[in-house]
Amino acid sequence: MTNTKIAIIGGSGIYDIDGLESPQWTTVETPWGAPSDAILTGTLDGVEMAFLPRHGRGHVHTPSTVPYRANIDALKRLGCTDVISVSACGSFREEMAPGDFVVVDQFIDRTFAREKSFFGAGCVAHVSVAHPTCPRLSDACEEAAKAVGVNVHRGGTYLAMEGPQFSTLAESKMYRSAWGADVIGMTNMPEAKLAREAELCYASVAMITDYDSWHPDHGEVDVTEIIKTLQGNAANARNLVARLPTLLGADRAPCPHGCDRALEYAIMTQPD
Ligand code: ADE
Repeated sequence: MTNTKIAIIGGSGIYDIDGLESPQWTTVETPWGAPSDAILTGTLDGVEMAFLPRHGRGHVHTPSTVPYRANIDALKRLGCTDVISVSACGSFREEMAPGDFVVVDQFIDRTFAREKSFFGAGCVAHVSVAHPTCPRLSDACEEAAKAVGVNVHRGGTYLAMEGPQFSTLAESKMYRSAWGADVIGMTNMPEAKLAREAELCYASVAMITDYDSWHPDHGEVDVTEIIKTLQGNAANARNLVARLPTLLGADRAPCPHGCDRALEYAIMTQPD
């Protein structure tokens, strides 16, 4: 058994968390540069917590300039064991409506202008991301969402696009029909891949703000529409986060799915 330390990476609309005991903003340095912001630490219901605003307070990082490697490394250095991403997304499904949450379990990574690995020349490693999210952590997110009365969908494929522009109509239609994506966002990749390389359990709560641009009864997506839905979503997300410590508990057994041992058979380079 080890101690649980839950990290929340908050997306658009979420820049801190409520009710922390002994809250403290800590600056963490990493070999990958500075994280998006200082990290808020404290305890909630006896469980250690860390919160990192993905875009920085004041929303200063674009999805492409978020320092994903520094963020994951900083959380690892602080002793976090479990990472929960909370982010806004568009929906490709009629039944996944704005205001609903999706605990996603798959990704299509269409990002191309981001550093995606901690490994490179000198130390070569290939981790599996066939199942990029942790079912145990996703269970807790689903249960917490239900407990706060959110309409939550368990499982779904998140298409990660580079942005910052939204998709064209043709892309939107292709992603939902030909590619089978359920939601679209700009930030969960390479975050999920890096969490796996760092042997951290990762789950993602995608909060729907819009129907992207494919839906014939809804206009094309814009930031005003997103911000309107975001405010209600953010209140639900805060309540969801508040439930997680009790659901996960302070004592942590090894991950039954092996997320925390992902490097065991992944490193190719011979040790010196
Ligand atoms: N974030 C929120 N809505 C989005 C959309 N439609 N596309 C990409 N990212 C989003």
